[in-house]
Amino acid sequence: MKANLSAVASVLLGTLLFVTPASAQDANLPHLEKRGDTTQLIVDGKPFLMLGGEIYNSSSSSLEYMKPLWPRLAAIPLNTVLTPLSWELIEPAEGKYDFTLLDGLLAQAREQRVRVVFLWLAAWKNGMSSYPPVWVKQNTKRFPRVVLHNSEANILSSVAGYSDATRDADARAFTAVMQHIREVDGREHTVLMMQVENEVGILGDTRDHSAQADQAFAGPVPAQLTEYLKAHRDSLEPTLRALWLEGGAKTSGTWAQVFGDTARADEIFMAWNYARYVHAVAAKGKAAYDLPMYVNTWLARDDNLPGSYPSGGPEPRVMDIWKAAGSAIDLYSPDVYDPDFAGWANRYHRPDNLLFIPETHGGKNGAANVFDAVGEHAAIGFSPFAIDGFQEGTTDLGASYSAIGSIAPILFEQQAKGNVRGFTLSKDHGFTQFYMNGYVVQVSLDEIFGNHAESGYGLIIATGRDEFLGVGKGFRVLITPRSPSPLKLGYASIDEGTFKDGKWIPGRRLNGDENDQGNYWRFDPREVRIEKAVVYRYE
Ligand code: DGJ
Repeated sequence: MKANLSAVASVLLGTLLFVTPASAQDANLPHLEKRGDTTQLIVDGKPFLMLGGEIYNSSSSSLEYMKPLWPRLAAIPLNTVLTPLSWELIEPAEGKYDFTLLDGLLAQAREQRVRVVFLWLAAWKNGMSSYPPVWVKQNTKRFPRVVLHNSEANILSSVAGYSDATRDADARAFTAVMQHIREVDGREHTVLMMQVENEVGILGDTRDHSAQADQAFAGPVPAQLTEYLKAHRDSLEPTLRALWLEGGAKTSGTWAQVFGDTARADEIFMAWNYARYVHAVAAKGKAAYDLPMYVNTWLARDDNLPGSYPSGGPEPRVMDIWKAAGSAIDLYSPDVYDPDFAGWANRYHRPDNLLFIPETHGGKNGAANVFDAVGEHAAIGFSPFAIDGFQEGTTDLGASYSAIGSIAPILFEQQAKGNVRGFTLSKDHGFTQFYMNGYVVQVSLDEIFGNHAESGYGLIIATGRDEFLGVGKGFRVLITPRSPSPLKLGYASIDEGTFKDGKWIPGRRLNGDENDQGNYWRFDPREVRIEKAVVYRYE
């Protein structure tokens, strides 16, 4: 009996140790969760802010090349690396998968305690098709190409019905990847999210002009799309709404009849086709292992002609088309290289879209903009491109990341209550103000004794009725009562400090010149500081 019991126990133990059922693995996997006013990325049961960077396109194709980079990336400090994973290296021969690189990258990341977001570079990267395996590239019959200005281009078509074999082959490989990640990472959660394809869209023409694409364009707009437009009529992105209403808000007709015979209709048609394709690939992958998934966007200015940027990618004006096409993509993300970072962050942070910045400038720009993304828009992550270039300004980025990372628990708690604001200030835009906790908070570029800061950035959190936490550099803050009141306000105390394991360790009491003789809560332009201010009222 005793022997039997121990045999049972060892079988049970074996089951527990080696055959974790899918449900147990998945219970706690990285996911997006609404908490109060915001939605957060939850990793191992807690909110997680990706303070990351994306490496150059080819770096992660060699484990040897990557080896010395990881410790340097971790030291910036980054907590997440966005790294390509290409179809050509995962499935060099049809149906033969090679996960050596994937496994190696995970092992290297874990060694440095860094998380990973994989970029699935498959049918398209920057609108082109350079990443599919050769067996796909060679078989133009099975995997058809687009036609641009009357000539076939070496770019895979996305048009529904025409591109199904491409989509299915892409989805099969992606599913194999997700299945494998689930097997090797279902418990550790080193992989947080997946990017599906990269900056999709037609480059070089407004739309695909293959015979099949022309035929689809002359056919009816799918009812799934017109139903969506009808159901979301009042909340559609304004320019899309205007276009549709101007055309009579038609619920049937060809693409040109419903959306007008212009390049806008071409872009909407392409958006629908790319979206159908990408949602299908993502849905298959999620069925294997359900991680959050996003699509990144090469941004266009409003007056650019579709095709001068990838026509059909999730630009703000066609994001609704992408949403109408499916729900497997959780977020649409801008690659912000435009100087107007705040403008783009604003456009991609919508009630129905969380902000994540997968690509942007790093260095001093990144060091500033991360405060706008995280403080003002509750972004779930920020990731400058070419981070393994370790360009000038990486130390500034690291200083911002360290400070933001150290206050993350407070940030998450107060973001959920809507108590966080972020900003970047420059000579052209040196002032901002907002309401917080019944106060007016005025933030301007720092100045003292005639010395003016040229730039500033930071965030402010209301941590108590009369208490605020600030992080950043180069600005000063004036807090006044919001409603007309005979009461005046002063600073009871301003302390600099640090957080260690979530515990506040006060440093200097800031007074005198450091708070402009009690007039301003100041953040020195020379370095990123974490400071607490308490205000008091008097008559
Ligand atoms: C955007 C792309 O998504 C990246 O892979 C890279 O090509 C950068 N552009 C280069 O600036």
